[in-house]
Amino acid sequence: MSLLKLEDLVIDFAVEGRVAHVARGVSLTIAPREVVGLVGESGCGKSVVSLAIMGLLETPPARIAAAELTLNGKDLLALNNRQRRAIRGREMAMIFQEPMTSLNPVYTIGDQVREAYLAHNADDDASRALAALDEVHIPNAKNIVNCYPHELSGGMKQRVMIAMALICRPSLLLADEPTTALDVTVQAQILALLREIRATQKMGMLFITHDLGVIAELADRVCVMYAGRIVESAPAAKIFAAPRHPYTRALLKCVPKMRGARERLYNLAGTVPSPFALPPGCKFAPRCEWATPECRQIEPDLRAVADEHCVACRQVKASGS
Ligand SMILES: Nc1ncnc2c1ncn2[C@@H]1O[C@H](COP(=O)(O)OP(=O)(O)OP(=O)(O)O)[C@@H](O)[C@H]1O
Ligand code: SF4
Ligand SMILES: [Mg+2]
Repeated sequence: MSLLKLEDLVIDFAVEGRVAHVARGVSLTIAPREVVGLVGESGCGKSVVSLAIMGLLETPPARIAAAELTLNGKDLLALNNRQRRAIRGREMAMIFQEPMTSLNPVYTIGDQVREAYLAHNADDDASRALAALDEVHIPNAKNIVNCYPHELSGGMKQRVMIAMALICRPSLLLADEPTTALDVTVQAQILALLREIRATQKMGMLFITHDLGVIAELADRVCVMYAGRIVESAPAAKIFAAPRHPYTRALLKCVPKMRGARERLYNLAGTVPSPFALPPGCKFAPRCEWATPECRQIEPDLRAVADEHCVACRQVKASGS
Protein backbone atom coordinates (compact mmCIF):
# COMPACT_ATOMS: atom_id res chain seq x y z
CA MET A 1 0.00 0.00 0.00
CA SER A 2 1.18 3.54 -0.75
CA LEU A 3 2.03 5.82 2.14
CA LEU A 4 0.62 8.80 0.23
CA LYS A 5 -1.57 8.68 -2.84
CA LEU A 6 -2.57 11.86 -4.59
CA GLU A 7 -4.63 11.65 -7.74
CA ASP A 8 -5.54 14.47 -10.11
CA LEU A 9 -5.10 17.43 -7.75
CA VAL A 10 -6.44 20.70 -9.16
CA ILE A 11 -5.88 24.01 -7.36
CA ASP A 12 -7.12 27.38 -8.56
CA PHE A 13 -6.91 30.76 -6.87
CA ALA A 14 -9.67 33.25 -7.59
CA VAL A 15 -8.14 36.70 -7.23
CA GLU A 16 -10.00 39.91 -8.08
CA GLY A 17 -12.14 38.29 -10.75
CA ARG A 18 -9.22 36.40 -12.33
CA VAL A 19 -8.34 32.75 -11.86
CA ALA A 20 -4.84 31.37 -11.39
CA HIS A 21 -4.49 27.69 -12.35
CA VAL A 22 -1.63 26.69 -10.06
CA ALA A 23 -1.98 22.89 -9.94
CA ARG A 24 -3.46 21.12 -12.93
CA GLY A 25 -4.02 17.42 -12.46
CA VAL A 26 -1.09 16.55 -10.19
CA SER A 27 -0.82 12.88 -9.25
CA LEU A 28 1.91 11.38 -7.12
CA THR A 29 2.46 8.43 -4.84
CA ILE A 30 5.00 7.93 -2.09
CA ALA A 31 5.77 4.44 -0.81
CA PRO A 32 6.62 3.86 2.87
CA ARG A 33 10.21 5.03 3.51
CA GLU A 34 10.50 6.41 -0.03
CA VAL A 35 11.91 9.89 -0.70
CA VAL A 36 10.24 11.60 -3.65
CA GLY A 37 11.81 14.79 -4.93
CA LEU A 38 9.52 17.45 -6.39
CA VAL A 39 11.54 19.78 -8.59
CA GLY A 40 10.82 22.81 -10.72
CA GLU A 41 11.56 26.49 -11.10
CA SER A 42 10.04 29.13 -8.89
CA GLY A 43 6.29 29.47 -9.39
CA CYS A 44 5.73 25.95 -10.79
CA GLY A 45 3.34 25.07 -7.96
CA LYS A 46 5.51 22.89 -5.71
CA SER A 47 4.58 24.62 -2.45
CA VAL A 48 0.85 24.81 -3.15
CA VAL A 49 0.80 21.06 -3.82
CA SER A 50 2.51 20.32 -0.49
CA LEU A 51 0.25 22.76 1.37
CA ALA A 52 -2.81 21.12 -0.16
CA ILE A 53 -1.55 17.70 0.98
CA MET A 54 -1.13 19.11 4.50
CA GLY A 55 -4.58 20.73 4.37
CA LEU A 56 -3.03 24.15 4.96
CA LEU A 57 -4.38 26.08 1.97
CA GLU A 58 -7.12 28.51 2.80
CA THR A 59 -10.33 27.91 0.89
CA PRO A 60 -11.21 30.49 -0.39
CA PRO A 61 -9.18 32.00 -2.03
CA ALA A 62 -7.98 28.52 -3.05
CA ARG A 63 -10.33 26.07 -4.75
CA ILE A 64 -9.09 22.54 -4.35
CA ALA A 65 -10.32 19.33 -5.96
CA ALA A 66 -8.75 15.89 -6.18
CA ALA A 67 -9.89 12.46 -7.24
CA GLU A 68 -7.99 10.89 -4.32
CA LEU A 69 -5.83 11.93 -1.38
CA THR A 70 -5.00 9.15 1.04
CA LEU A 71 -2.38 8.78 3.76
CA ASN A 72 -1.79 5.22 4.97
CA GLY A 73 -5.08 4.35 3.27
CA LYS A 74 -6.99 7.06 5.19
CA ASP A 75 -9.13 9.29 2.97
CA LEU A 76 -8.00 12.83 3.84
CA LEU A 77 -10.62 14.39 1.57
CA ALA A 78 -13.38 12.98 3.77
CA LEU A 79 -12.02 14.63 6.94
CA ASN A 80 -13.19 17.92 8.42
CA ASN A 81 -10.79 20.66 9.58
CA ARG A 82 -10.58 19.33 13.14
CA GLN A 83 -9.76 15.84 11.91
CA ARG A 84 -7.14 17.19 9.48
CA ARG A 85 -5.54 19.14 12.35
CA ALA A 86 -5.33 15.93 14.37
CA ILE A 87 -3.35 14.30 11.56
CA ARG A 88 -0.99 17.24 10.97
CA GLY A 89 2.06 16.88 13.13
CA ARG A 90 1.13 13.37 14.21
CA GLU A 91 0.91 11.41 10.95
CA MET A 92 2.44 13.95 8.61
CA ALA A 93 4.60 16.96 9.31
CA MET A 94 6.17 19.76 7.31
CA ILE A 95 9.37 21.77 7.42
CA PHE A 96 9.69 25.04 5.57
CA GLN A 97 12.32 27.10 3.80
CA GLU A 98 12.63 29.87 6.36
CA PRO A 99 12.90 28.54 9.93
CA MET A 100 12.85 32.02 11.48
CA THR A 101 9.30 32.68 10.35
CA SER A 102 8.17 29.22 11.49
CA LEU A 103 9.42 29.61 15.07
CA ASN A 104 7.65 31.86 17.54
CA PRO A 105 10.11 34.59 18.65
CA VAL A 106 8.60 34.98 22.15
CA TYR A 107 8.78 31.35 23.34
CA THR A 108 11.88 29.38 24.21
CA ILE A 109 13.05 26.56 21.97
CA GLY A 110 12.24 24.02 24.71
CA ASP A 111 8.65 25.29 25.05
CA GLN A 112 8.10 25.16 21.30
CA VAL A 113 9.48 21.65 20.94
CA ARG A 114 7.33 20.43 23.85
CA GLU A 115 4.30 22.19 22.41
CA ALA A 116 4.72 20.23 19.15
CA TYR A 117 4.51 17.02 21.22
CA LEU A 118 1.69 18.15 23.52
CA ALA A 119 -0.48 19.07 20.53
CA HIS A 120 -1.03 15.33 20.06
CA ASN A 121 -0.06 13.70 23.37
CA ALA A 122 -1.02 14.16 27.02
CA ASP A 123 2.09 12.74 28.69
CA ASP A 124 5.21 14.88 28.81
CA ASP A 125 8.37 15.47 30.73
CA ALA A 126 11.17 17.95 30.27
CA SER A 127 13.54 15.27 28.96
CA ARG A 128 11.47 14.79 25.80
CA ALA A 129 12.47 18.14 24.30
CA LEU A 130 16.10 17.44 25.16
CA ALA A 131 15.95 14.02 23.52
CA ALA A 132 14.33 15.50 20.42
CA LEU A 133 17.08 18.13 20.13
CA ASP A 134 19.77 15.50 20.70
CA GLU A 135 18.30 13.42 17.91
CA VAL A 136 18.92 16.22 15.40
CA HIS A 137 22.44 16.72 16.83
CA ILE A 138 21.95 20.10 18.46
CA PRO A 139 25.07 20.59 20.55
CA ASN A 140 24.60 21.63 24.15
CA ALA A 141 20.84 20.96 24.01
CA LYS A 142 20.52 21.54 27.79
CA ASN A 143 21.26 25.24 27.25
CA ILE A 144 19.52 25.54 23.90
CA VAL A 145 16.11 24.59 25.37
CA ASN A 146 16.22 27.87 27.32
CA CYS A 147 17.21 30.02 24.31
CA TYR A 148 14.92 32.10 22.12
CA PRO A 149 14.96 31.65 18.32
CA HIS A 150 16.96 34.86 17.67
CA GLU A 151 19.84 33.40 19.70
CA LEU A 152 20.28 30.51 17.24
CA SER A 153 21.93 30.37 13.80
CA GLY A 154 19.87 29.52 10.70
CA GLY A 155 21.16 25.94 10.63
CA MET A 156 20.36 25.43 14.33
CA LYS A 157 16.86 26.82 13.82
CA GLN A 158 16.30 24.43 10.93
CA ARG A 159 17.45 21.55 13.17
CA VAL A 160 14.90 22.68 15.78
CA MET A 161 12.18 22.71 13.10
CA ILE A 162 13.16 19.18 12.09
CA ALA A 163 13.09 18.07 15.74
CA MET A 164 9.58 19.52 16.09
CA ALA A 165 8.45 17.81 12.88
CA LEU A 166 9.79 14.44 14.01
CA ILE A 167 8.72 14.51 17.65
CA CYS A 168 5.41 12.69 17.07
CA ARG A 169 7.04 10.19 14.68
CA PRO A 170 4.99 11.03 11.57
CA SER A 171 5.05 8.55 8.69
CA LEU A 172 5.33 11.34 6.09
CA LEU A 173 7.59 14.40 6.17
CA LEU A 174 7.03 17.20 3.68
CA ALA A 175 10.19 19.27 3.32
CA ASP A 176 9.66 22.47 1.33
CA GLU A 177 13.08 23.81 0.31
CA PRO A 178 14.47 23.22 3.82
CA THR A 179 18.02 24.12 2.83
CA THR A 180 17.48 27.03 0.45
CA ALA A 181 17.87 29.79 3.04
CA LEU A 182 21.09 28.29 4.45
CA ASP A 183 24.67 28.77 3.35
CA VAL A 184 26.34 25.94 1.47
CA THR A 185 28.16 24.26 4.37
CA VAL A 186 25.12 24.36 6.65
CA GLN A 187 22.99 23.12 3.75
CA ALA A 188 25.28 20.08 3.47
CA GLN A 189 24.92 19.40 7.21
CA ILE A 190 21.12 19.58 7.09
CA LEU A 191 21.06 17.28 4.04
CA ALA A 192 23.27 14.82 5.92
CA LEU A 193 20.81 14.96 8.83
CA LEU A 194 17.85 14.31 6.54
CA ARG A 195 19.72 11.38 4.98
CA GLU A 196 20.34 9.99 8.46
CA ILE A 197 16.66 10.42 9.42
CA ARG A 198 15.67 8.68 6.24
CA ALA A 199 17.93 5.74 7.09
CA THR A 200 16.95 5.43 10.74
CA GLN A 201 13.25 6.25 10.81
CA LYS A 202 10.39 4.57 9.02
CA MET A 203 9.41 7.72 7.23
CA GLY A 204 8.52 8.68 3.68
CA MET A 205 9.46 12.13 2.45
CA LEU A 206 8.35 14.62 -0.17
CA PHE A 207 11.40 16.78 -0.71
CA ILE A 208 10.72 20.00 -2.59
CA THR A 209 13.50 21.97 -4.20
CA HIS A 210 14.50 23.84 -7.33
CA ASP A 211 18.02 22.39 -6.96
CA LEU A 212 18.59 19.12 -8.80
CA GLY A 213 21.96 18.73 -7.07
CA VAL A 214 20.17 18.46 -3.73
CA ILE A 215 17.69 15.95 -5.14
CA ALA A 216 20.51 13.76 -6.42
CA GLU A 217 21.74 13.32 -2.86
CA LEU A 218 18.44 12.34 -1.31
CA ALA A 219 15.62 11.20 -3.57
CA ASP A 220 14.66 7.71 -4.71
CA ARG A 221 12.26 9.09 -7.27
CA VAL A 222 11.88 12.48 -8.90
CA CYS A 223 8.82 14.35 -10.17
CA VAL A 224 9.55 17.37 -12.32
CA MET A 225 6.89 20.05 -12.24
CA TYR A 226 6.23 22.80 -14.75
CA ALA A 227 3.39 25.34 -14.77
CA GLY A 228 1.25 23.37 -12.34
CA ARG A 229 1.76 19.90 -13.86
CA ILE A 230 4.14 17.02 -13.47
CA VAL A 231 5.94 16.73 -16.81
CA GLU A 232 8.34 13.88 -15.98
CA SER A 233 8.60 11.30 -13.23
CA ALA A 234 11.10 8.47 -12.85
CA PRO A 235 13.52 6.87 -10.41
CA ALA A 236 16.24 9.41 -9.60
CA ALA A 237 18.95 7.37 -11.34
CA LYS A 238 16.97 7.41 -14.59
CA ILE A 239 16.25 11.13 -14.42
CA PHE A 240 19.93 11.92 -14.02
CA ALA A 241 21.24 9.35 -16.50
CA ALA A 242 18.64 9.80 -19.23
CA PRO A 243 16.23 12.71 -18.77
CA ARG A 244 13.58 12.68 -21.51
CA HIS A 245 11.48 15.84 -21.17
CA PRO A 246 13.10 18.95 -22.72
CA TYR A 247 12.43 20.87 -19.48
CA THR A 248 14.19 18.27 -17.31
CA ARG A 249 17.09 18.19 -19.78
CA ALA A 250 17.36 21.97 -19.61
CA LEU A 251 17.25 21.97 -15.78
CA LEU A 252 20.05 19.40 -15.70
CA LYS A 253 22.15 21.40 -18.15
CA CYS A 254 21.90 24.33 -15.71
CA VAL A 255 23.62 22.33 -12.93
CA PRO A 256 27.33 23.30 -12.75
CA LYS A 257 29.70 20.35 -13.33
CA MET A 258 32.78 19.83 -11.22
CA ARG A 259 34.49 17.52 -13.72
CA GLY A 260 35.19 17.55 -17.46
CA ALA A 261 36.09 20.36 -19.83
CA ARG A 262 35.28 23.92 -18.80
CA GLU A 263 32.24 25.18 -20.62
CA ARG A 264 29.79 28.05 -20.39
CA LEU A 265 26.88 27.24 -18.04
CA TYR A 266 23.61 26.69 -19.90
CA ASN A 267 20.93 29.30 -19.40
CA LEU A 268 17.29 28.33 -19.94
CA ALA A 269 15.79 31.39 -21.59
CA GLY A 270 12.33 32.68 -20.70
CA THR A 271 10.26 32.22 -17.54
CA VAL A 272 7.51 30.01 -16.17
CA PRO A 273 4.19 31.37 -17.51
CA SER A 274 1.86 33.16 -15.12
CA PRO A 275 -0.87 30.83 -13.82
CA PHE A 276 -3.29 33.65 -14.68
CA ALA A 277 -2.35 33.53 -18.36
CA LEU A 278 -1.21 30.05 -19.37
CA PRO A 279 -0.52 29.65 -23.09
CA PRO A 280 -2.59 27.10 -25.05
CA GLY A 281 -1.07 23.69 -25.76
CA CYS A 282 2.16 22.60 -24.07
CA LYS A 283 3.01 25.18 -21.44
CA PHE A 284 6.73 24.71 -22.08
CA ALA A 285 6.42 25.39 -25.84
CA PRO A 286 7.49 29.08 -25.68
CA ARG A 287 10.85 27.94 -24.23
CA CYS A 288 11.27 24.58 -25.96
CA GLU A 289 13.76 24.07 -28.76
CA TRP A 290 11.78 21.05 -30.04
CA ALA A 291 8.39 22.81 -30.17
CA THR A 292 6.23 22.26 -33.26
CA PRO A 293 2.98 24.02 -34.23
CA GLU A 294 1.02 21.03 -32.79
CA CYS A 295 2.78 21.49 -29.46
CA ARG A 296 1.30 24.97 -29.22
CA GLN A 297 -2.23 23.63 -29.72
CA ILE A 298 -2.59 20.45 -27.66
CA GLU A 299 -1.17 19.90 -24.19
CA PRO A 300 0.43 16.43 -23.97
CA ASP A 301 -0.66 14.03 -21.22
CA LEU A 302 1.79 12.41 -18.86
CA ARG A 303 2.31 8.87 -20.22
CA ALA A 304 4.65 5.96 -19.63
CA VAL A 305 7.62 5.91 -22.01
CA ALA A 306 9.54 3.17 -20.18
CA ASP A 307 9.26 1.12 -17.02
CA GLU A 308 8.54 3.55 -14.11
CA HIS A 309 9.27 6.51 -16.40
CA CYS A 310 6.49 8.93 -17.43
CA VAL A 311 6.86 11.98 -19.64
CA ALA A 312 4.44 14.64 -20.89
CA CYS A 313 5.93 15.53 -24.27
CA ARG A 314 4.61 14.70 -27.71
CA GLN A 315 8.15 14.40 -29.16
CA VAL A 316 9.27 11.75 -26.68
CA LYS A 317 8.60 8.26 -27.96
CA ALA A 318 8.14 5.25 -25.72
CA SER A 319 11.23 3.03 -25.55
CA GLY A 320 10.97 0.29 -28.15
CA SER A 321 8.42 2.16 -30.30
N1 LIG B 1 -2.60 32.69 -2.15
C1 LIG B 1 -2.31 32.76 -3.45
N2 LIG B 1 -3.06 33.51 -4.30
C2 LIG B 1 -2.79 33.58 -5.62
N3 LIG B 1 -1.77 32.94 -6.22
C3 LIG B 1 -0.99 32.19 -5.44
C4 LIG B 1 -1.19 32.06 -4.01
N4 LIG B 1 -0.25 31.23 -3.51
C5 LIG B 1 0.52 30.87 -4.56
N5 LIG B 1 0.09 31.45 -5.70
C6 LIG B 1 0.65 31.30 -7.05
O1 LIG B 1 0.72 29.92 -7.33
C7 LIG B 1 1.84 29.67 -8.17
C8 LIG B 1 2.63 28.54 -7.55
O2 LIG B 1 3.20 29.01 -6.33
P1 LIG B 1 4.13 28.11 -5.43
O3 LIG B 1 4.46 28.91 -4.23
O4 LIG B 1 3.50 26.79 -5.21
O5 LIG B 1 5.41 27.93 -6.35
P2 LIG B 1 6.75 27.15 -6.02
O6 LIG B 1 6.95 26.16 -7.14
O7 LIG B 1 6.70 26.63 -4.65
O8 LIG B 1 7.85 28.30 -6.17
P3 LIG B 1 9.15 28.63 -5.26
O9 LIG B 1 10.23 27.72 -5.80
O10 LIG B 1 9.42 30.06 -5.55
O11 LIG B 1 8.81 28.36 -3.83
C9 LIG B 1 2.64 30.97 -8.25
O12 LIG B 1 2.38 31.59 -9.49
C10 LIG B 1 2.09 31.78 -7.11
O13 LIG B 1 2.15 33.15 -7.40
S1 SF4 C 1 5.32 18.84 -26.21
FE1 SF4 C 1 6.46 20.03 -27.69
S2 SF4 C 1 6.78 22.02 -26.72
FE2 SF4 C 1 6.15 20.59 -25.13
S3 SF4 C 1 8.04 19.86 -24.27
FE3 SF4 C 1 7.46 18.41 -25.86
S4 SF4 C 1 8.49 19.14 -27.70
FE4 SF4 C 1 8.56 20.80 -26.25
MG1 LIG D 1 7.74 27.10 -2.90
